[in-house]
Amino acid sequence: MKAVILAGGQGTRLRPLTLKVPKPVVPIVNVPFLCYQLELLKKYNVDETILSVGYQPEKIESVLGQSNKLHYIVENVPLGTAGAYKNSESFLDGTTLVFNGDILCNFDLNKIIRFHQANSAIATIVLTQVGNPSSYGLVETTEDGRVTRFLEKPGLEDITCNTINAGCYVLEPEVLEMIPLGKNYSFEKSVFPDLLASGRAVYGYVAPGYWIDIGTPEKYLNAHLDILQRRFVPSVILPWEDSMPKLKPGANFLNSFISSSCAIGEKSQIFSSSINEGCRIGKRVIIDRSVIWSGVEIGDDTKIEGCVVGNSCQIGKNAVLSKTILGDNTVVLDNSQLEMSSK
Ligand code: GDD
Ligand code: MG
Repeated sequence: MKAVILAGGQGTRLRPLTLKVPKPVVPIVNVPFLCYQLELLKKYNVDETILSVGYQPEKIESVLGQSNKLHYIVENVPLGTAGAYKNSESFLDGTTLVFNGDILCNFDLNKIIRFHQANSAIATIVLTQVGNPSSYGLVETTEDGRVTRFLEKPGLEDITCNTINAGCYVLEPEVLEMIPLGKNYSFEKSVFPDLLASGRAVYGYVAPGYWIDIGTPEKYLNAHLDILQRRFVPSVILPWEDSMPKLKPGANFLNSFISSSCAIGEKSQIFSSSINEGCRIGKRVIIDRSVIWSGVEIGDDTKIEGCVVGNSCQIGKNAVLSKTILGDNTVVLDNSQLEMSSK
C-alpha cells in the first residue's frame, strides 16, 4: 500500500518557529518531525510515500533527502487537503493511506486497514478521543462505526461526542473521482460531508494509543514532554545513550535529551528538556520543560521554563524566560524577563 502525507500547510500557529523551519521538519527531541511518520509507515511495510509539500519545499527535501520510496509533489498554490491528495493521483494505484503531516501517533496501521476492508468502506477516518473537540474535526458514528456526521471545528453548541478526526484516512480510489483537479478542495469541508450526504460507506475507527497534533506551541511542547518523560515511545529509535553532553562539575540533567556536541556549564540543571546540536549553556542555568534548537547560547544564572528557543538564539545572563517562544536568531539581553501573557 502507498501513503500520501499532506505537508503543504504554512504552520502559522507555530510561528515564529516555522518562519525558517517548515512544520514537517521541526525537530521533535532533535529529530525532524516527518521522520517519526516515515518510521511508522516503514514499520507497517508501506511501499512508497508521496509527500505533498508547498511551503519551503526545498528545506523539507534537503532534510529528508531523496529515495525511490519517497516522492515529492510541490504545489505552487495550496490545493487544500483533498486537492493535494488528488494532485498525487498519478502515483497511486489502489487503496491508499493518507496522513496529515503534523500528527504524532503509534497507531496500528494493520488493524486500521483490516477494519476498512471488513466494512467494505469507501473511506475510513481514524478517530481519537479528546476532551475538547472544538479545534478539530468532530466525527459522530453509529455503534458499529458508520460515520453519521463530520463537522470541522465545531462551535461549543455543536459538540455532541468526544471523537475527532485524527488526520489519518484509508481511502478507495473512487474518492479521487469526487475531487476536482488543480482546485483548492478540502476533505473536511467538502469530501467527507458530501460522501455522507450521498450515503456512501464512510467508517470511523477509534484507534487506541498515543496521538497528538504538534501544530501549536503548547502541543509541540507536550509532544516533547510525553517522549522525554517516557509516556510515549515513538517508532523512531532515539539514541539516548549517545546524548551525553560535555558536563562541567555539578551540572546534571534528568529526563532530557541533549546533543553530545553541547557544553553545559558548572552547576546547571536541566529537566525534561531537549537541546539540539552545538548549544553552549553557561553556569548555574536552569532549563525546565523546554525545547532548545541548535546553536543557542545561554548566559550564566539564566532560568528558562516552558519555552521553545529557535536556532542560533543568544540569551544573556541572569535572564528569566517563561512560557515563551523565540524565533531563530533572537537576542535576549542580560537581566531580561520574558513571560508570554495568557490570552
Ligand atoms: N499539500 C497540502 N496543501 N497540505 C496541506 C494544505 C494544502 O493546501 N493545507 C493543509 N495541509 C496539510 C498541513 O500541512 C497539515 O499537515 C494537514 O494538512 C492538516 O492541516 P492543519 O492546518 O494542521 O489542520 P488542523 O490541524 O487545523 O485540522 C486538521 O487536523 C485535525 C487533526 O489534527 C483537520 O483534518 C481536522 O479535521 C483534524 O481533526
Ligand atoms: Mg494540524
